[in-house]
Amino acid sequence: MKTALKIIGIVFGVIVLLVVVAAIVFYFITGNFITRTFDVAVEPVDIPAGDEVLAHGQHLATIWGCTDCHGENLAGQPLIEDPAMGYLYASNLTSGKGGVGSTFTPTDWVRAIRHGVRPNGQSLIVMPSLDFYYMSDRDLGALLAYIKSVPPVDHEMPARSFGPIGRMLLYTEAIPLQAVKVNHTAPRPEPDPGVTVEYGSYLASTCRGCHGPKLNGLGGDADPNGPPPPNLTPSGELGEWSEQDFINTLRTGKTPEGDELDPLYMPWKAVGQMTDDELKAVFMYLQSLPPS
Ligand code: HEC
Ligand code: HEC
Repeated sequence: MKTALKIIGIVFGVIVLLVVVAAIVFYFITGNFITRTFDVAVEPVDIPAGDEVLAHGQHLATIWGCTDCHGENLAGQPLIEDPAMGYLYASNLTSGKGGVGSTFTPTDWVRAIRHGVRPNGQSLIVMPSLDFYYMSDRDLGALLAYIKSVPPVDHEMPARSFGPIGRMLLYTEAIPLQAVKVNHTAPRPEPDPGVTVEYGSYLASTCRGCHGPKLNGLGGDADPNGPPPPNLTPSGELGEWSEQDFINTLRTGKTPEGDELDPLYMPWKAVGQMTDDELKAVFMYLQSLPPS
């Protein structure tokens, strides 16, 4: 009897030990995977001055979604707070306490926004550098001028950390490290603003991360908890829409079919603040795509 209990005790102890060792190994491997560093070539951009530049920069911060995630005052906010997933914060971009604005060099800004890499070489997560890589020098310069002009806000947030589910999703690349996703040497066309297919394609850079590289709804990284991003090529519902239908949809979040777009998953409140000409260019470009 006694020896039976002893054996059960030993077996149980060994199982507990194995689970603990497996957990330590899991945390070690996923931790190394998430914090590995990337060395990318960064080209700084000119940061111009002037009221017109600042106004354009503010417009960009809205339509490219910076204020959606980093907050209207760019002081940052928690995006994920869940013990199983982890804790992720959209950084404080101002020069207040806890803000990167007080330490970032112009190169640090470009490395983070276009390449998804922090000054310490680690990759950003959820921050869509995959799309922002394509922001033109002109726009990025104006955006940085604006970010540097916003009032400093003291807002310190803890460092990001990941729970077991978050680690699994990162390790399997269901949530990608941005530095892996960005094509760091892709050409960057910089078309002149106007109601043209080329400029529409440029503005649609911010749509591809979710609607997919071909904008047919496939191959993007939209939030898996939300509705799937629809096909925006003419073989989707947009094939039946007029230019005005498209503009109305992005301004109001309601499609001609009467569906309401969920602003949590489709950032229509940000995209809908594009000017009429910008939306017309995007629509012209979407209509020019091969049906897919
Ligand atoms: C979908 C949400 C989202 C959008 C849109 C977004 N960001 Fe971020 N951003 C984040 C998150 C989350 C982090 C922190 C990521 C991390 O800790 O891995 C971040 C980090 C950054 C950093 C790095 C700061 C640091 O702590 O090292 C900069 C710079 C930045 N964002 C600028 C921008 C700008 C400029 C825009 C608009 C062009 C923008 N972001 C749009 C979510 C977003
Ligand atoms: C963060 C991911 C994300 C980004 C970025 C994004 N979308 Fe979407 N979009 C979605 C999702 C998800 C839906 C479906 C929403 C729903 O059904 O509530 C959607 C729906 C739409 C619809 C409705 C289509 C239909 O057939 O009903 C249009 C139009 C649209 N998006 C255009 C755009 C454009 C243009 C851009 C870029 C300027 C863009 N989206 C950027 C995720 C995104």
